[in-house]
Amino acid sequence: MNTRILILGSNGQIGTVLAESLRTKYGRDQVICSDIREPKLQADGPFRLIDVLDSKAIEQVIQEENINQVYHLAALLSARGEQNPSLTWQINMQGLLNVLDICSRLKVSRLFFPSSIAVYGPTTPKQLTPQFTSLQPSTVYGISKLAGEMWCEYYHHRYGLDVRSLRYPGVIGWQSLPEGGTTDYAVEIFHGALKSGHYKCFLKAGTRLPMIYMDDAIRATIELMEAPSDKIRIRTGYNLVGMSFTPAEIAEEIKKLVDGFTISYEPDFRQQIAESWSESIDDSSARADWGWSPRYDLKEMCREMLEKLSGKLA
Ligand code: SER
Repeated sequence: MNTRILILGSNGQIGTVLAESLRTKYGRDQVICSDIREPKLQADGPFRLIDVLDSKAIEQVIQEENINQVYHLAALLSARGEQNPSLTWQINMQGLLNVLDICSRLKVSRLFFPSSIAVYGPTTPKQLTPQFTSLQPSTVYGISKLAGEMWCEYYHHRYGLDVRSLRYPGVIGWQSLPEGGTTDYAVEIFHGALKSGHYKCFLKAGTRLPMIYMDDAIRATIELMEAPSDKIRIRTGYNLVGMSFTPAEIAEEIKKLVDGFTISYEPDFRQQIAESWSESIDDSSARADWGWSPRYDLKEMCREMLEKLSGKLA
C-alpha cells in the first residue's frame, strides 16, 4: 500500500525534522504537514493549516489526502503547560481524543503518539526507571501524556487501532528549537556557546536528565512505526533513551570544543519539574521488542551539534 502520511503539529522541534526524514523516505508529496500556524520557513511540500481541536478539519484532510499514517505531535510542553493548565489539558487531551476517534473510524492503519519522560513523577524510581513502574506525574503536561498513553492502549485493545508511542526524553537537535520544555536548556546551551561563548542555565548544575540526539529520536520513531505489528507488545509508551547528563557535564564537554565557553546557573520554576523526573531510563523493552539501539553518546552528540549548528548559524 502507498504510504500517505499526515503530521499534526509539524512546526515543532520534532515535527520539523521528522517531516524532512519522512519526505526523504516516502517522497515529498506523500507527507502532508499541518500546524495551527504557517511554518516560519516556506513549507517544502504540502502543508495545511489545522487546529487539532477542529475534528472536522482533521477528518477532511485524512479523507481528501487518503492518509493511512498519522503522527500526532501537536501539544504544549511541560514548562509552558504549567503556565496554562486548562489550555494544555484541552489541546493535549482533547486533541488526542479527536485523533484517536477519527483514526479508528476512518481505519487509519497506523498512529504515532509522542509520550514523554514527564509521565514519571516523584514516586518513580529515578535510576534506570523500569518500563512498568509507579507513574504519578506532577505537571499537567505529564498527566496529559500518561492519560494519553492509557487512551492509546484502550483504543488498541477495544477498537484494534494500531497506535504506537515513545516516551521521549529531552531531544537535542541543531535543526530546530524546542519551545516551552524543561529539557530545552540542552539545546539552548549550544546556541549560547556559539553566539556569545556563555550560557545562563535555568537548571542547577547537578540536575541529571535523560536525553537523546535528534537523529536517534527520529530513527527510533520511524523504526517503531515500521516494525511489524506483532513486535509492538506495549501500547502505552515505550521507554526510550540515548544518554543522561547534568548541565555541568554537558558544559564540560562543550568547553573541550569551544574555547573559553562559560556557564552560569540561575534555576527557576523548571528546576522543580526536572527534579520530579527520572535521571536515567531502562529502555530494554524497546530494544527487545523492535530492536532499538541508540548511536549517539554525550561526546559524539556535542561534536556533531557544534559542527552542524555552526554551519547553520553561519
Ligand atoms: N522535552 C519535554 C519537556 O521538557 C519532555 O517531554 O517538556
